[in-house]
Amino acid sequence: MPATIVTGLQWGDEGKGKMVDHLAENAAAVARFSGGANAGHTVVVNGRRIALHQLPSGLLRPGVLGIIGASCVLDPVSLTEEMLSLEEEGFPVDDRLTISGNVHLVHPAARYFEKTDESSLGEDSVGTTGRGIGPTYVRKFSRRGLRLEDAAIPGSFTRRSNDMAEECVRQLGLGREEEDALREETGVFNGHALDLVTRASDVSMVISRILRSDGIVIAEGAQGTLLDPDHGTYPYVTCGSCVAGAACVSLGIGPVMIDEVVGVMKAYNTRVGNGPFPTELTDELGDRIREKGNEYGATTGRPRRCGWFDGVLASYAARLNGSTWTVLTLLDVLSGFPELMVCKKYQLDPEIDLTLFETGARLGRHVPVFETLPGWQEDITGETSWEALPKNAREYVLFIEKLTGVPVRAVSTGPAREDLIWRT
Ligand code: GDP
Ligand code: IMO
Ligand code: MG
Repeated sequence: MPATIVTGLQWGDEGKGKMVDHLAENAAAVARFSGGANAGHTVVVNGRRIALHQLPSGLLRPGVLGIIGASCVLDPVSLTEEMLSLEEEGFPVDDRLTISGNVHLVHPAARYFEKTDESSLGEDSVGTTGRGIGPTYVRKFSRRGLRLEDAAIPGSFTRRSNDMAEECVRQLGLGREEEDALREETGVFNGHALDLVTRASDVSMVISRILRSDGIVIAEGAQGTLLDPDHGTYPYVTCGSCVAGAACVSLGIGPVMIDEVVGVMKAYNTRVGNGPFPTELTDELGDRIREKGNEYGATTGRPRRCGWFDGVLASYAARLNGSTWTVLTLLDVLSGFPELMVCKKYQLDPEIDLTLFETGARLGRHVPVFETLPGWQEDITGETSWEALPKNAREYVLFIEKLTGVPVRAVSTGPAREDLIWRT
């Protein structure tokens, strides 16, 4: 049985968590393959809103095994808190979580380094989530990182971890209060890492066995294609690869083990943090989308920047991921607008050499060219039938399908698990 990959086609928060939870109904395992506690994946089950940060969204389905891949970065303290809160919600994790022993751990020092980096950038700051993601990847690639498997030898693990804290105190010249805080956080970190090492495994082996015995595996992406460090709006990106290709690397499975690549995209665009956003609405239309769509970050609570759907970037992202089909989410948020705009191409800045597609910082210099489409007034929240959608809503979906060149197989009409239209 081949695996299915789910990725975001925009700047994150496309509704991946809801879709993964939906697809996980009959799955044996759901494996997170990128990012860490910077992610916030919201699932609404029986009216309860649950935000998952490091745990795979499939854990809300009984019997599903959660897997965390090698390319993720893991904060043992917040992961433990997350497991406890999930248990309080009535979804005990118990032995349903296994973590790659190769995963790099987010040491408390990483957050101090990140804060210093961001403030030194001033107006050019990335607007990171403050979860220590960037410095952890930097340390990983400088070959000095701490991995979960290292915690199997407690003495040397604790020594290396404490040294990392001291190195941070020296390098950043931390004041007395911060120094004490970091040492205390490091002690807590060490304890949680030593506890979690019992969950370390060879996830490649775990997944291969499940696939060989015909179990369904969903690979859950975090962030979105436009935040990918290689293909996104660099330097305003995250540090872990988040395109579909990264799933094979992180989970240790070959590309031939994949048959479906599901691209999740909102019916409009949003972005948290800084960086170019050609279709951004900075007027009251943007505010209206933010309020209707409850566009506030699931991790940091920051207001998300909102704008019209960008078909140029969505087509680019669908190509990069090799999306076999897409899901258009939050369509219900667009009800009640007299007309809707979709960016179908850019009027290019002649000074930029576009022999290469520019997704970097200069992307913001292109002017979007919009198609105006008629809106619909009916509330479509919770609709599950394609035929019952207002004609203009169906035409909006079909326009985006044509623009991206990938079939939109499902349309999401509300935050709840069941608010979904399947077109086939
Ligand atoms: P993720 O990071 O891709 O999993 O997405 P987030 O959970 O960060 O953000 C998506 C937000 O939209 C969450 O608040 C979801 O509950 C909500 N959501 C998902 N699908 C829909 C939908 O179709 N309609 C509405 N109104 N909300 C949705
Ligand atoms: P999910 O999985 C939206 C953004 C941050 C910032 C940039 C770098 O919920 O879609 P980082 O802390 O990763 O170094 O921040 O990336 N970012 C996200 N934006 N959704 C996410 O995850 C994000 N994860 C990181 O806002 O602009
Ligand atoms: Mg999110």
